[in-house]
Amino acid sequence: MSKYWERKPLLIRRRAKAYYDPLLSARDVDRIVTSINHKPLSIAKDGAIIPPLFHSNGENKEKVMEFYNDGGTIILDKVESSSPELLELCNEMRHFFNVSNKVFCNVYITPPGKQAFDLHSDDQDVFIIQVEGKKNWKVYQPEFELPINEEQTRVPEDFESRHKPLLDITLRKGDFLYVPKGFPHKVTTTDQHSIHITLTVINYTWYDFFSQMLKAASNDNVELRKSLPRTFFSGVEFSSQKKEFVKVWSSSSLQFAFDGMKALATKNIKPQFQGSVSDSLNVGKIKINSTLVRRGGLVIDVKREKKKTTIASNLGEFSMEGLNQQIRFITSRQAFKVSEIPGKLSDEDKIELSAAFTRAGLLKLKID
Ligand SMILES: [Fe+2]
Repeated sequence: MSKYWERKPLLIRRRAKAYYDPLLSARDVDRIVTSINHKPLSIAKDGAIIPPLFHSNGENKEKVMEFYNDGGTIILDKVESSSPELLELCNEMRHFFNVSNKVFCNVYITPPGKQAFDLHSDDQDVFIIQVEGKKNWKVYQPEFELPINEEQTRVPEDFESRHKPLLDITLRKGDFLYVPKGFPHKVTTTDQHSIHITLTVINYTWYDFFSQMLKAASNDNVELRKSLPRTFFSGVEFSSQKKEFVKVWSSSSLQFAFDGMKALATKNIKPQFQGSVSDSLNVGKIKINSTLVRRGGLVIDVKREKKKTTIASNLGEFSMEGLNQQIRFITSRQAFKVSEIPGKLSDEDKIELSAAFTRAGLLKLKID
């Protein structure tokens, strides 16, 4: 994984051509394109998105095939909203990489002998799943690694004359390709049409983290909200600026940064929502030998005041009297058996305590 992630493309060819069929079939695509309810849909041709966009209420959708037959690529945005299988895949990916990532799926339907976009690179990592037909991919080593904005993803006009592709391949039904962010790519169809899913992962970078952390810290630190001295950038020597800089920087201190980080974690990280209804229906089935699992994507902060313990998380907060040892045990484990809860509690009390955490959404019953 670390060999490829953000470093180089990965191609996986599968003999089982139907491997990805459960995710999305040509029939699903037909349903989504012709259904009035799937709103985000656009057409790209000769390197650009063309108007009109068929996004608002499905109006003029019958014209989509006209554009397609005329060489346009149909792009279905955020298809996971119309497919439970793709929604589950997006959720799994989000939690596998980092709970703060955004993950979504677009589907591209391209007629034979066409390309949707010219050579370009993206500021996102993409996973390509070829569902139907064939598509040619040329992927190049980037000149600028891991771009984070549009300026950094710009590919110079003479790029192709100066570089040989790292990969020059044809993706067929059942194939998978990972293209790390920043790797320029050019994609064209062959004599066949092509349908592929692009699963996009938008990463939360150190840059995002530090810039947002400072913003969050500025809520608690008036020094950060003051303007720079009028003459800050006008001196030739930087010694006086350094003094000012150190004064502000040290007053914002690690503690403020840490508070900012906590605020960010609670705001940005979303707990895994899928399955919440069945999890809450399962509360009554908890027994002394049941296994409970911590919900994915939880950020928990336990605060103690005298006898009261408050368990705050990105799902909300609730308080309990005493039971410090047991709360510490429950909040520090990814999975445990109800019988393992420490201290002199009866089986009924252990079950009730587990049920309270499950009702609050922090735990879920593992069903074998
Ligand atoms: Fe792309």
